Amino acid sequence: MGVVLGIDVSTTATKAIVIDGGGAVLGVASSGYGFEQPRPRWAEQGPALWWAAAQDAIPRALAAAGRTGDDVDAIGLTGQMHGLVLLDAADEVVRPAILWNDQRTAAECDAIRAAVGPRRLVEVTGNDALPGFTAPKLAWVRAHEPANWARAARVLLPKDYVRLRLAGVRATDKADGSGTALFDLAARDWSPEVLGALGIDPAWMPPAFEGPEVTGAVTAAAAAATGLREGTPVVAGGGDQAANAVGVGAVVPGRVAVSVGTSGVTFAATDRPLFEPAGRLHAFCHAVPGRWHLMSVMLSAAGSLRWFRDALAPGEPFGDLAAAAGEVPAGSDGLLFLPYLSGERSPHPDPLARGAFVGLTLAHDRRHLTRAVMEGVAFGLRDGLDLMVAAGMPRPERILGSGGGTASPVWRQILADVLGAEIATPATTEGAAYGAAVLAAVGAGWFGTVQAATDALVRAATVAEPGPDASAYAAAHDRYRELYPALAPTFRRL
Ligand code: XUL
Repeated sequence: MGVVLGIDVSTTATKAIVIDGGGAVLGVASSGYGFEQPRPRWAEQGPALWWAAAQDAIPRALAAAGRTGDDVDAIGLTGQMHGLVLLDAADEVVRPAILWNDQRTAAECDAIRAAVGPRRLVEVTGNDALPGFTAPKLAWVRAHEPANWARAARVLLPKDYVRLRLAGVRATDKADGSGTALFDLAARDWSPEVLGALGIDPAWMPPAFEGPEVTGAVTAAAAAATGLREGTPVVAGGGDQAANAVGVGAVVPGRVAVSVGTSGVTFAATDRPLFEPAGRLHAFCHAVPGRWHLMSVMLSAAGSLRWFRDALAPGEPFGDLAAAAGEVPAGSDGLLFLPYLSGERSPHPDPLARGAFVGLTLAHDRRHLTRAVMEGVAFGLRDGLDLMVAAGMPRPERILGSGGGTASPVWRQILADVLGAEIATPATTEGAAYGAAVLAAVGAGWFGTVQAATDALVRAATVAEPGPDASAYAAAHDRYRELYPALAPTFRRL
């Protein structure tokens, strides 16, 4: 049997992974790059970096797997969402891509809400207009760079630029399309209404495919550049969060995943286009055909513990820090931590929100501070879960955990207790790239459905059950929820 290839075009690197028919990872290679911050709160990256990194990573991943391009049955793409890649009529890049973490477009978000109507925008697209999303970036280029706007003829998302170079086709997937604020969530396609209200030519947008659908095939030129075989099918894949969810098996309605990486994500697959009426959750199409998902995004999850370690316990291994936190009681003897160190997206879309320790006494030591950070992150994830349940999703009994934070047994137990659910972590840790490879396995015909593929390929390794501390955490979470409304005016003044 052959292999499939997953390619993840992330903000910091492009990673290629090779998996076999049993889901085993045979080879991984990654090629890194940086992004530019030409002004504070701006983030840009040249699309040529992604293609150069892909050409570097793909042959190395194949070599690490002991395979050649002839063995690859299909390729799946995933990557950073929301970025604006602007091309001219000859598919040349007009300006550097404006990335998901760029915050320059607050005024354009207001203008989009006004043009579509704030309630209607959430009804159609499932989401409020957020500065990271693609549509406000288009509006920004129109307002600030008339020469670039005059040249522009096509819009792509970051991973789809690699698809253009690999397969010579303009295409995207429905999960990535959903992160543009231009997509009709229920129709699973571009919204003529929103495009019309914003004066964007629908012909600029690429066709949107379901995750496992084949969008094109490797061209002769790309085959020569990567060692792949000309004609190898390239499936649509998915935006990084949807692909990561496929990689952990969060593909059937009601299946919930949390990821505790730099950011923290609560993700739930749904069978209907559910959305949160105030737009405090993201509501996107899933990379799974006919499925959708709700998602809350915290900006500093394991990133909060990294900050704490670097600031107050430099050099200490995370495992030791977390294990010591296990020596103090649940609730950290009344100490609370707000994890809004980079501002926040969900449940408080507030770039000015800040972190805080509240409730310090002489009795607290470093173990309490560490535990409070881990508990604060869990409370933030719980806020996201509660919004999803309020939006109509059943409360889960089991949650699929991924990301560096879930490697700690103490943190896993805190998550199980705070989220009130068993936390199961999968055996593979290759994240979105693994999910993209799974979608390729479906596109290659190895499996009939994404669910059949994840049932066969994705295995849960470690499980934590909710224990006796759950009720102490419920009370602490009530106190935690009082803090943001009380402190928000101070954050604004700071
Ligand atoms: C998802 C999101 C991030 C980016 C970068 O909404 O903003 O996951 O895709 O990884």
